[in-house]
Amino acid sequence: MNAGILGIAKYVPETVVTNVDLEKRMDTSDEWIRTRTGIEQRRIAEKSIDTSDMAYFAAKQAIENANLTAEDIDMILVATVTPDQPFPSVACMLQDKLGAKKVAAMDISAACAGFMYGMVTAKQFIETGTYKHVLVVGVEKLSKITDWNDRNTAVLFGDGAGAAVLGPVSGDRGILSFELGSDGSGGKHLYQTEEDVIFMNGREVFKFAVRQMGESSVNVIEKAGLKKEDVDFLVPHQANIRIMESARERLNLPIEKMSKTVHKYGNTSAASIPISIVEELEEGKINDDDVIVMVGFGGGLTWGAIALRWGR
Ligand code: ACO
Repeated sequence: MNAGILGIAKYVPETVVTNVDLEKRMDTSDEWIRTRTGIEQRRIAEKSIDTSDMAYFAAKQAIENANLTAEDIDMILVATVTPDQPFPSVACMLQDKLGAKKVAAMDISAACAGFMYGMVTAKQFIETGTYKHVLVVGVEKLSKITDWNDRNTAVLFGDGAGAAVLGPVSGDRGILSFELGSDGSGGKHLYQTEEDVIFMNGREVFKFAVRQMGESSVNVIEKAGLKKEDVDFLVPHQANIRIMESARERLNLPIEKMSKTVHKYGNTSAASIPISIVEELEEGKINDDDVIVMVGFGGGLTWGAIALRWGR
């Protein structure tokens, strides 16, 4: 029995900040941002909406989409590096907001690979029969740790949330294989400073990301006993279109088989993969029995990839 996705949903804040808006705030240009990153706009949460609120909006809808209620959830995992506060965890706040049972709840800190870490953790509890329904949320309010005077980073990030309920699925659907990894020696390239803003050595992160996205994607395909041509859809972490393209080329996939939402939302870290899946489902691009490969990388450094056959 495999664990798979029973229901999934997203939440993005209403406020749209375009590249042209940023031109007015810092020394940058729409042209630079588009050509170097593929980003055209991002969503920024209002002050009154914190990480746990976005997590709640997405989670509530995901539970509904799974045809379940909060009572049915046996564990809550929240992947985030921008919690409301260091503790209590966003997962505990979410347990309360949802009115869920007093179940195991914890945050996962794996930056942009966080949703992959969350899904793989959920899989262990489900496939051992320990828990039936695990809620996994990827959520970030990166705007609160963005240095709005640093054009190197400020143009890249956005806020949002994606949530999925994982549980047992039928036949050969669900998670087929995964890979998780870390390299703490690269932590110096991407971190939150003492001033509580993001520092990034863009070139180093870029080189690491290009290598890791391609390698991890190939590894999960092989581990699942599949070939590149069996992959129907690639959902890469939406950090930069050039990094995403390199992963797509490594898998020899045509452009229409890769999810692209980075132009609309920027890099939403742990939320980017679930947000992208929701958008592709809405557009009918992911269908039952499709093999999808999800792959992410982030600060830590961390990475994670999953091959999954879609459907309940
Ligand atoms: N507007 C205009 N110019 C800019 C901007 C900007 N917003 N930002 C940087 N520049 C300038 C730089 O100062 C540099 O100028 P210089 O040559 O005079 O020094 C020039 O543009 C080129 O800089 P590069 O670093 O060569 O630009 P590059 O093509 O590498 O693109 C980028 C930079 C987009 C940051 C790229 O390196 C990248 O995407 N890196 C990976 C980022 C990433 O994926 N982060 C994921 C984080 S995951 C997580 O855990 C949150």
